[in-house]
Amino acid sequence: MAYDKDWAKVDPSTLPDIKVPPPGPRSRELHSRAEKFMKGYSSQVKLFPVAFESGHGVTLTDVDGNRYIDFSSGIYVTNLGHCHPKVVEYIQKHTATLMNCHDYTTEVKALFLEKLASHTPGNLNGIQMYCSGTEAVEAGMRAARAHTNKHEFFSFYGDFHGKTMSAVSLTEVANFTTGPRAPGHHMAPNGHCYRCHFNKVYPECNLFCVDALEKQIKMEGTDNIAAVVLEPIQGWNGSIVYPDGYIPKIRKMCDRLGILLIVDEVLTCCARTGKFWCVDHYDVEPDIIIMGKGMANGFPCTAFAIKDDYTEVLEKISASTSYGGNPMAAAAGLASLEVIEEENLVERSAKLGSFILDKLLKMKDNHKIIGEVRGKGCLLGMELVKDQETREPFIDAGNRVYQKAFSRGLAWIPARQNLRMSPPLIMEEELAARALEIIDDSITEVEKEYGY
Ligand SMILES: Cc1ncc(COP(=O)(O)O)c(C=O)c1O
Repeated sequence: MAYDKDWAKVDPSTLPDIKVPPPGPRSRELHSRAEKFMKGYSSQVKLFPVAFESGHGVTLTDVDGNRYIDFSSGIYVTNLGHCHPKVVEYIQKHTATLMNCHDYTTEVKALFLEKLASHTPGNLNGIQMYCSGTEAVEAGMRAARAHTNKHEFFSFYGDFHGKTMSAVSLTEVANFTTGPRAPGHHMAPNGHCYRCHFNKVYPECNLFCVDALEKQIKMEGTDNIAAVVLEPIQGWNGSIVYPDGYIPKIRKMCDRLGILLIVDEVLTCCARTGKFWCVDHYDVEPDIIIMGKGMANGFPCTAFAIKDDYTEVLEKISASTSYGGNPMAAAAGLASLEVIEEENLVERSAKLGSFILDKLLKMKDNHKIIGEVRGKGCLLGMELVKDQETREPFIDAGNRVYQKAFSRGLAWIPARQNLRMSPPLIMEEELAARALEIIDDSITEVEKEYGY
């Protein structure tokens, strides 16, 4: 399909365009109607209860007519921009042709699988398709259990892997569960250098945290541990990028102990971090890789891939679901992967991301409450602290800066003292610079409010 390559172009001087102080009256009215029934909104909605009407490319429009710069991509989802014409066309075609035929083969599914397998690392070509990240994580865990005949897992402090029972048991976020994590799910301190759990300093530490992980795994008994599950960059925990060597050292440890390595790339896959997969930054090949979010630019379509030589386990855990791999989802995935290739989005993500990270680093020099800025490609973040020496988290400031920037027209993602940025990979630098000015001004105002 031919589409105008400039379909998402915007004049940066016209954005954001705030006509009514948001959340405006229509937003408030709609939100209060929805909220009567829908309980448990995320903190980002609670802190800024706006209602959206449409999205186009790198912009979002709310129901009061305000236009925002999108620095969130849904939540790391609409990487190609909202309503990318190729994705829309493919989904529309398959919506009008065949919506569902259980797990029978369709041409579009075959095309999608071939395209995806051309991108998966090494020989990770055994694939199953699902509809949410958490389902794909659980399916990957089931595959690990089927292959190893072991049933326990290790994940890391601060991880987020979804909200079904096993996936949520891999997360640290206690309030998503209604009690203790399911048995057999262990958590270990992660390699979070800014807040080292062992009070050590990288690189002199020689990645002591991985040695400690190995010790903890051995104490639990390697006979039962099927896999280590890892977010290669922690999203929910505040865009935590691990030090070089950390993920390769975990890979080696898993090999030594005979444990699988499952890398959860639901958030980091498909060019988000400036490589197709985040593990490509570290030359690491997982045993199982999980993908979602940006893989289909907003249509529910997720998957996991496992090594060819393990595919007997895929027979054991059956790929059949009501919706996984339906023609509309496969079409959205196929279109998205084609666009990533055609529009060189891996390179563009790396370039835009380093432009933003440079500006964030300069911003940090001018603000007392920025403790750390971090990111890879277009997965970025900053952490606010009360004092750069003590690094005490500044949660109130995180919430206030989020709200202030949003009210000025920047749609983005809070996480307590952390602020997360995930622009569509197609954003022009000039517009990203405008977004960063909004963040800078909002931090200045909040610093004044708190007497810095
Ligand atoms: C790393 C990671 N894994 C899994 C999930 C769960 O995905 P979903 O919300 O599609 O179930 C998320 C969601 O944010 C995620 O960030």
